[in-house]
Parts: sequence; C-alpha cells; structure tokens
Amino acid sequence: MGQNSSQAGRMTSPVRVIVVGAGCRGEIYSNFASIHPERMKVVAVADPRKFARTKLQKQHKILDDNVFEDWHSVIERDKFTDAVLICTPDHLHKEPAVAFARKGYHVLLEKPMATTADDCRAIVEACTQSGVMLSVGHVLRYDPVIDKIKELIDAGVVGDVIHIQHLEPVGYYHFAHSFVRGNWRNEAESSFALLAKSCHDIDLIHHWAGARRCVKVSSFGSVSHFTKENKPPGAADRCLDCSIEKGCPYSACKIYLDRVKQGNAGWPVSVICPNSYPDIESVTEALRTGPYGRCVYNCDNDVCSNQVVNMEFEGGLTAAFTMVAFTEEICKRRTTVHGSKGELSYNGHEIHVFDFLTQRSTKHTAHSDAHRHFGLSGHGGADYHLIDAFVSAVANNNPSLIRSGPEETLLSHLLVFEAERARLESRVVYCGDTIKS
Ligand SMILES: NC(=O)c1ccc[n+]([C@@H]2O[C@H](COP(=O)([O-])OP(=O)(O)OC[C@H]3O[C@@H](n4cnc5c(N)ncnc54)[C@H](O)[C@@H]3O)[C@@H](O)[C@H]2O)c1
Repeated sequence: MGQNSSQAGRMTSPVRVIVVGAGCRGEIYSNFASIHPERMKVVAVADPRKFARTKLQKQHKILDDNVFEDWHSVIERDKFTDAVLICTPDHLHKEPAVAFARKGYHVLLEKPMATTADDCRAIVEACTQSGVMLSVGHVLRYDPVIDKIKELIDAGVVGDVIHIQHLEPVGYYHFAHSFVRGNWRNEAESSFALLAKSCHDIDLIHHWAGARRCVKVSSFGSVSHFTKENKPPGAADRCLDCSIEKGCPYSACKIYLDRVKQGNAGWPVSVICPNSYPDIESVTEALRTGPYGRCVYNCDNDVCSNQVVNMEFEGGLTAAFTMVAFTEEICKRRTTVHGSKGELSYNGHEIHVFDFLTQRSTKHTAHSDAHRHFGLSGHGGADYHLIDAFVSAVANNNPSLIRSGPEETLLSHLLVFEAERARLESRVVYCGDTIKS
C-alpha cells in the first residue's frame, strides 16, 4: 500500500463511532474496534432487528441508552460521536448519510452511495457543506495488490494505457444467493446489478484511466437462466420439497444445508437466519419458510446476471467490462491493461507485466497482514484496510488517507448510472458534462 495508515493514527483517544445497520457489513467494520480498541470504539448501534443490534451491543459493551431501533432516533440527539458507519440496505443510504453529515459526523457509507444519481450528488453536497469526511465502501481501492496496478500504471511500466479489459466473475452460487434469492435480487427493493455489484469495478476502471474522463458508453445485459421459463419439469417451488434438487447446482440444500451440516456456518449460511445463529434446525426452517429456500427458477429476481459495458475515455482509451454470474471463482477480478510499451495482467492474485522491448515478464504482488485480523474473508483484507484508513483519517483530521472519497466516487457512480441508461435505452450514451468534475 502507498501509505501505512495504521501507523498514521495520532489521536490519543479512540475514534468513537455509531453503527447504523448492524448486518454483515456493520459487523465486519465493527470488528476493527475489537482488534484495535485503542483506535476505535463502537459507542452506539441502530438496527430494527433485535438479534443484530443486541449481538453488536454485547460484542462492544454498548450502553442501553445508545441502542436504537432506527437511525432517526439517533439523529434527534446532539452529536455524541466522531463518526458514523452507515451499513443499511442500498435504498436506505441517502437519508441517513445526509442527516448525519449535516449533524457534523464524519461518514463511512457503504457502496453504492445511493440508488439515484441525484441522491449521490446530495450526499456529496451535504458532506462538503458540513465539512465532514466521506469514505464510500469501495473496498477494492484498499486491496494492496489492486492498488499496485495503479502504482504500476502511474510509474509508466506499460507506457500509455490504450485499453483496459476487466472481468468480475460473481460466482454461480454467490449470484444465486445474493442476486436471485437474496437482498439484491430485485431492483425496486435494492438497485440494479451494475450498481449493486459492479460500482466497485467501474470505479477501478475510472481510477486507472487517471485524469481522462469517459466520453461514451454502451452496455448490454439481461437476466439469463434464472427465469420461470427455465424451471425444469418436476422442480418444486422450494428445494426442500424438490425431487430433482440433487441434479441442480443452485439447490439451497447444497448451498446452505450441506455447509451447516459440515460445520460451516460462515457466509452465505450466516446471512439466512436473520433472527438467530445458524444451526441445522434454523437453517432448515429458513429454507422452509424464507426467501433462501426458493427455487432459483421461481423467484422475483429481475437484475442482470450478465452485463457488458464498453467505454471510451478522452484520448481514445477504451475499456471493456464484463460482469457474469456463471463462474467458478467468486469475485476474483481479472484485469488486463494494454499499453504502448507492455501488457499488465492481474489474475485475482498477482500481477504480471510483460515488457514489449525486453520481452521479459515481471511478477508483482503486495503484502497485507489484514488476514491476521479479519480472517480470509473481508475482500482479501481490503475491508480491514478501508476501515483502518477511515479511522486514521478521522483521528488525524486528514481526508487524504481516504481513497474512496467524495469527488472521484461520485464521478464513477455517475458513470455507472450512464452505463445502465445505455443498456436500458439500447444506445450509446455521450457522457458529456455529466461525468466531468
Ligand atoms: N463494500 C462491499 O464490498 C459491500 C459488500 C456487501 C454489501 N455491501 C453493501 O453494504 C450495505 C449493507 O449490506 P449487508 O450485507 O450488511 O446487509 P444486511 O442486510 O446484512 O445489513 C443491513 C442492516 O441494516 C438494517 N437496517 C434496515 N433499516 C434500518 C434502519 N432504518 N436503521 C438502521 N438499520 C437498518 C437491517 O436490519 C440489517 O441488519 C448494502 O448497501 C450493501 O450493498 C457492500
């Protein structure tokens, strides 16, 4: 990483935070306080789910007075912490982000910033006007190896960047879990797939393009395979009742029940029992009655399972992005940066740079000890580095430690909205002034 933010903390008392939304993301970021109690303290929590807020309360010894069912009750109080971590569902980002910023809280806001371009702008405006820091959950910006790609591009190892090819393999059962049965399956309830899943990736491409702005974008994509028409004859509406589930790779029995039977109650099993710890009994009950037990061919999903985005940036730099559900790898991005002097390829683990002149290939990687703290989950350590950087930024009143700050993040979100417009309207969208700083 360019800067070791953990060594940058100089504040003598820990940064005090409120967690709004104590689900998966809220819990992950809160873990930082358990690892580094001298640097961050979770002082309050708001979540309508009793199980979630009580769990966080116990983990962080939060006073009863500081446990809330909803963020609106928190905002009625005078400001009582340094920062807020907003980890609510996608459609519940704008309102709390604006309200907390106006109260003077520094804001860590999960991605996507919001579900409309206007709401994204409103958040940035509120943070700017109040003079508070904003860090958006673009965790990949904090992945040490991915960060190295930018470092190498800026060092000129491939010469002028001519073309960027970037793939997001979502993973077949991850897609079924999150985007067919789960929280991000339906645009009206969350957001479209390119925003929910790939705003990270468009942000990276935008970042790698440097100062060049995107001028034209086109996009295609649809919901493939996970439709009612593809339901096999004889399949039941729920996997527990299905006589042909053994032959289905998307069977909920395989994804959840088999895992918990083998003692693996981590993600995605951990998500499906909203009011209890997962065990064989509660998982079976969730599959019998909840959304995660449904046949993947019989859900109310409407978000794209495969989408491509083509972009042209100033100066003729082109970029091609693909998001696809049907992959073995889960979210291990693959990238190739084609330059005038060489080719950089990233396989999800390490980077190779081939130099056209010397015809030599050089391997690059980067070290992170985040897994010591956050385990192997957490986006390969990037979650740890993001919260680390945010805490350091607040402790030192130094926004430059935040890599996913308001200006660039807003621009890359606007590009996502333009790409989706291109898909919906089946045309090339000229970005014009919309994506200019
Ligand atoms: N940065 C990343 O890579 C990444 C990864 C996954 C999810 N996300 C994003 O993080 C956000 C949270 O996702 P998650 O997986 O933690 O979801 P989750 O469902 O596990 O957690 C969301 C929590 O918000 C709570 N909530 C709902 N309304 C609330 C309110 N009015 N006040 C307070 N809390 C409220 C819910 O009860 C739930 O516990 C989403 O926007 C998601 O897209 C980001």
